[in-house]
Amino acid sequence: AEFEQFHSHSGPKPWPVVGNFGGFLVPSAIRKRFGSKAEGPAKNAAAVLTELAKVYGNVYSIYVGSQLVVVLNGYKVVRDALSNHPDVFSDRPDIPAISIMTKRKGIVFAPYGPLWQKHRRFCLSTLRNFGLGRLGLEPCIVEGLTNIKTELLRLEEESGGAGVDPAPVISNAVSNVICSLVLGHRFNHDDQEFRSMLRLMDRGLEICVNSPAVLINVFPLLYHLPFGVFRELRQVERDITAFLKRFIANHQETLDPNNPRDLTDMYLKEISARQEAGDVDSGFTEDYLFYIIGDLFIAGTDTTANSVLWVILYMASYPDIQDKVQAEIDGVVGPLRTPSLSDKGKLPFTEAAIMEVQRLTTVVPLAIPHMTSETIEFMGYTIPKGTVVLPNLWSVHRDPTEWDDPDSFDPTRFLDEDGTLLRKECFIPFGIGRRVCMGAQLAKMELFLTVTNLLQTFHFRLPEGAPRPPLQGRFGLTLAPCPYTVCINPR
Ligand code: HEM
Repeated sequence: AEFEQFHSHSGPKPWPVVGNFGGFLVPSAIRKRFGSKAEGPAKNAAAVLTELAKVYGNVYSIYVGSQLVVVLNGYKVVRDALSNHPDVFSDRPDIPAISIMTKRKGIVFAPYGPLWQKHRRFCLSTLRNFGLGRLGLEPCIVEGLTNIKTELLRLEEESGGAGVDPAPVISNAVSNVICSLVLGHRFNHDDQEFRSMLRLMDRGLEICVNSPAVLINVFPLLYHLPFGVFRELRQVERDITAFLKRFIANHQETLDPNNPRDLTDMYLKEISARQEAGDVDSGFTEDYLFYIIGDLFIAGTDTTANSVLWVILYMASYPDIQDKVQAEIDGVVGPLRTPSLSDKGKLPFTEAAIMEVQRLTTVVPLAIPHMTSETIEFMGYTIPKGTVVLPNLWSVHRDPTEWDDPDSFDPTRFLDEDGTLLRKECFIPFGIGRRVCMGAQLAKMELFLTVTNLLQTFHFRLPEGAPRPPLQGRFGLTLAPCPYTVCINPR
């Protein structure tokens, strides 16, 4: 009755069996149902859901298959749920296609509870020690940037001025950072086996969100089908498992507890420390480590790489803003010294430009699905326990009650009259509340270093005569720019 009541008061009428978005996670399905038939990419799902809020209000429900899903729109509603009622809104649903891969372990898709909390705390403190400290990842990121710049220049020369697709180079560099953090600096980044593991992870995700395998969410038994993408998915899973298990075994053999090399070593140390302390049910196990490693790769690579790719595309599309960013970098850093984290705070316009790109593009537009762990009265509705909740971060960043002219690209909205950077509460690309992105500090550091380094060295320009690349993006797990090419001129 509660479902009925919720539903009849708010939200579009569902179709039998498939609900409103039978293929909700399938972008092509959204394209067919909501996108224009004309050229160009479909509207992203979060933008579609933002439009529905104009009809049904900021809290409404849809059905995905037979699952009730409540969509939260606008800053006030999202904040009220995730920050003011964190104990109710911080659980994660069991999404069959994803649970098959994650077994509901790790951090990203783990249920809200003590096991998730212990692991999140452990990872955050390890990230602080290894990643964000003075001797942490900055040198590793900067070294990677030197390689990126050489590679981009080589590709530009090869292209003869036609333009370069920066995506593969940027993705490589970003996964190398996570790789150093999780699997150790000694890792050979050109390792073919490792490269193929990254490809497998990409393929696994692609299958889960963008193929008929998405139907596993509605009919879980499809997973066992002995053909097509279903069979491929099981093979991908086996290959990733074999790779990571081998890797963990190798770490165990070479572990020096006094000299941990990376997060994997720290975790293995933690297992022993807890065992020695008699905490036999600590939940820290080699099996769990496997899922943590997978999570960090999945959560930390595409998100950051796509954010960098969006900044490059916006800079090329708005040359006057690019000029201002470069003038600021030239004034503060000059042409010779490599920009470093110590420059953060001295480059407000550059930071504002990065934030404005993040606001408009919101690379994780619907956050990661949440679930209510209790029935709650919320904004006049009864939301039953076990309801999937989508915080629509995209709608927060386009909320006209928070942002003037929300669709326009204007970095100065993050600056006061004196040009000082403003912290805006309603800017939440990393989410908000207990499930807020665990890698936000690392991601901000990578974004700042990458953008300042690249813009110090290069001017990005759209190829002459070519059509302007669309700024709507492609919706998968993250919102990625549609593939584009830019001309890269050394400054
Ligand atoms: C979760 C954004 C980079 C690790 C999330 C969420 C968002 C987000 C929106 C979901 C919050 C929610 O469910 O309410 C981003 C963006 C990034 C980025 C925009 C880059 C610009 C990273 C990096 C890492 C990471 C580099 C790893 C080091 C995680 C983890 C979670 C998460 C582990 C799950 C947290 C939990 O469920 O407790 N991220 N992220 N992210 N992110 Fe990120």
